[in-house]
Amino acid sequence: MGTIQIKNLSYQYLDSDEPIFHNLSADIDEHWRLGLIGRNGRGKTTFLKLLLGTLDNQGSIKTNIHFTYFPAFPSDSSQSVMDVMTSNGGEEWQARIELEHIGIESSYDQRPFDSLSGGEQTRVLLARGFMTRGAFPLIDEPTNHLDIDGSKLVAQYLRSKSGFICVSHDESFLNSFVDHVMSLNRSSVDLVSGSINDWKSNKEARDHSAVEKNIRLRKSIKRLDQRANQQQRWAEQKERESNDASSRKSAKKLMKRVKVFKRRASENSQERKGLLSDIDQVDNLTTNIQSNTGNKLFFSLRSFSILRNGSKLFLPINLDFHENSRLAIYGPNGVGKTTLIQYLQQNVDLNYNGYKLVTLPNNIGYLSQSFESFVRNNPFFTDGRLEERTNVWNIMHQLGVSRSRLLASPKEWSMGETKKAALAYTLTQPHTLLIWDEPTNYLDISAREQLINLIKESQPSLILIDHDEHFISEASTQQIELRRPD
Ligand SMILES: Nc1ncnc2c1ncn2[C@@H]1O[C@H](COP(=O)(O)OP(=O)(O)OP(=O)(O)O)[C@@H](O)[C@H]1O
Ligand SMILES: [Mg+2]
Repeated sequence: MGTIQIKNLSYQYLDSDEPIFHNLSADIDEHWRLGLIGRNGRGKTTFLKLLLGTLDNQGSIKTNIHFTYFPAFPSDSSQSVMDVMTSNGGEEWQARIELEHIGIESSYDQRPFDSLSGGEQTRVLLARGFMTRGAFPLIDEPTNHLDIDGSKLVAQYLRSKSGFICVSHDESFLNSFVDHVMSLNRSSVDLVSGSINDWKSNKEARDHSAVEKNIRLRKSIKRLDQRANQQQRWAEQKERESNDASSRKSAKKLMKRVKVFKRRASENSQERKGLLSDIDQVDNLTTNIQSNTGNKLFFSLRSFSILRNGSKLFLPINLDFHENSRLAIYGPNGVGKTTLIQYLQQNVDLNYNGYKLVTLPNNIGYLSQSFESFVRNNPFFTDGRLEERTNVWNIMHQLGVSRSRLLASPKEWSMGETKKAALAYTLTQPHTLLIWDEPTNYLDISAREQLINLIKESQPSLILIDHDEHFISEASTQQIELRRPD
C-alpha cells in the first residue's frame, strides 16, 4: 500500500489522431478522496481503465493498491443483495455495515438485486466497492441515476471513506467530500489538494492572466510592427534622398533598429503561442428550433395516477400542459416519472385512475433514458443522410466534441459524446414538442449551460425529467413533483 506512482504515461486509442495522455506523471496517495473532472471526452474513464490495467500504455503505473470499479453490474442480477455484496470477497457482517452506512436496510438483504430501483442498485454497487480491505474504488459517475436524496446519501457515505477516485460532472456533489482534485484540462492536467471550488478559482485566475497577457502581447506586437515599418520607411527615404556617407550611415542605423523591433515582435509572438490553449471556449448553440407561441392544450390531468398491479404509482396529480410551456417533472427514483411520459406518448399500456385528456402532437423529439443503445444501434449515425448527419455533428461540435471524434464510430464515443449525439438528434429532427428524459446525465457542465441558454432563447415546447435542481429551475416554466403514495 502507499501511492500510485505514474511516470510518463502516454496513451492514444489506435484509430484516433490525438493522444489522450502524453507523458503524464503524478503521485496519488492511498488516503486521498480524489475528484476527477474534465469535459466530456477528455479521458476520465480512460484514466480509470489505465489504472485498472485494462489498456496497453506507454510509461509506468507503479502501485500495489487493489482497485475496484464502479459501475460493475453483477453477472447474475437475480442474486440476492447480500450475495452481490459478498461476491468479490468479504463477510456478511461487513456487508451489513456498509449497506447500513449507505442507507440500505436489512430487509433488503435477501431481495433479488434486480428488484431494487435504479438508485438503490447504484448504492449497493458502490458499497460493494468498499468491501475488500484496503480496496481503492475507481468510481465513474455515480450520481447519474440518483435522485436528490440518493445523491446526498452517497456524498455522505463517500465523505466517511478515504482512498478512492470519483469522476463526476456534479461540482456541488464532489465539493461535499473530495480533498484532492485532478482536472483534465484542454491541454494540461492539474493535480492539486483542496476542493473543486479551490481548483476552479485558481484555474480561473490562471485563465484570466493568460487572456490579459495575450492582449498585452498582441498590442505590443502591433506597436513593434508599426515602429519597424516606420523606421524602415525612413531608412529607405534616407537612402533615396541623398548619397553622402553620413545619410547611408544613419539609414544603416535605422535598419538596425528595424531588426531589433522585428526580433522583439517575433519573441512576443513566440510567447503568445499556446497561451490560450488550455482555455475552453464555450459558444452559444445555433440551431433552427422554433419557439412555440401557440397556446394549444397538449394534455390535462385531474386526480390522475397510473396504476401498476392495481396500486397507484404516485399520489394523484392535477396538471395542464400547453404548447408554449416548459414542464419539469421531478421526484424520487422509482416514482413513475418515465412511466408517465411514456404513458402520455402511448408507449405503455397501463390502467389509470382519475381523468385525462391527451392530445400530444405526432412529431415529438424524444430523448429516452436508453439513449446509449439508441445511438449505438441506430444506422442514422453511420449511414443516415449526410445533410441530416451534418446538422447533428454541428450541434455536437458546438457542444464541445472535437471534429475528429465526430467521424469516429459511435460505439467508441464516450458517454458524454453519446449523450450529445442523442440530444442533437432530437433537436435536428422536425418536432413540435421535445420530451427529454434526464438530459443532464453524463453531460459536462458547459454543455448543460449551453442547453439552458438555448432553451431560454428558443423557448421550445418542452417536457423534461431531471434531478439537477439548477437545470430544472433555469430551463422550465412549470414544475410538478411526483410523490410516492405511502
Ligand atoms: N475504443 C476507442 N477508440 C477510439 N477512441 C476512443 C475509444 N474509446 C474512447 N475513445 C475516445 O477517447 C476520448 C476519451 O474517452 P473517455 O471515455 O475516457 O472520456 P471521458 O472523459 O470519460 O468522457 P465522458 O465525460 O463523456 O464520460 C473520447 O473522445 C472518446 O471518443
Ligand atoms: Mg466517462
